[in-house]
Amino acid sequence: MTFVVTDNCIKCKYTDCVEVCPVDCFYEGPNFLVIHPDECIDCALCEPECPAVAIFSEDEVPEEMQEFIQLNVELAEIWPNITEKKEPMPDAEEWDGVKGKIKDLER
Ligand code: SF4
Ligand code: F3S
Repeated sequence: MTFVVTDNCIKCKYTDCVEVCPVDCFYEGPNFLVIHPDECIDCALCEPECPAVAIFSEDEVPEEMQEFIQLNVELAEIWPNITEKKEPMPDAEEWDGVKGKIKDLER
């Protein structure tokens, strides 16, 4: 089991999640973070820390966001590790809650 970062992280990237992860298994792209499923120890600490409510346990990912499970797998292999909190994206508040941001995902 792993936790998964989903749509509402895109263009927000608050990074509060990074600070609490005991195994540093977050990886960073230009406007999105992912969790490496083989490194996540399923501790659930990150889930309540995300102001955008973008993190779900793998078995609780909403139906319309199932593709994010595979996206986390794929992108965690190619993006660099992130271990410290940083400033959110400049328009994070404006984008928080906008649906279907997957079309804006930068790789
Ligand atoms: Fe890290 Fe725990 Fe979140 Fe997995 S569930 S990403 S180990 S904080
Ligand atoms: Fe993204 Fe939430 Fe972390 S917006 S960067 S999953 S705190």
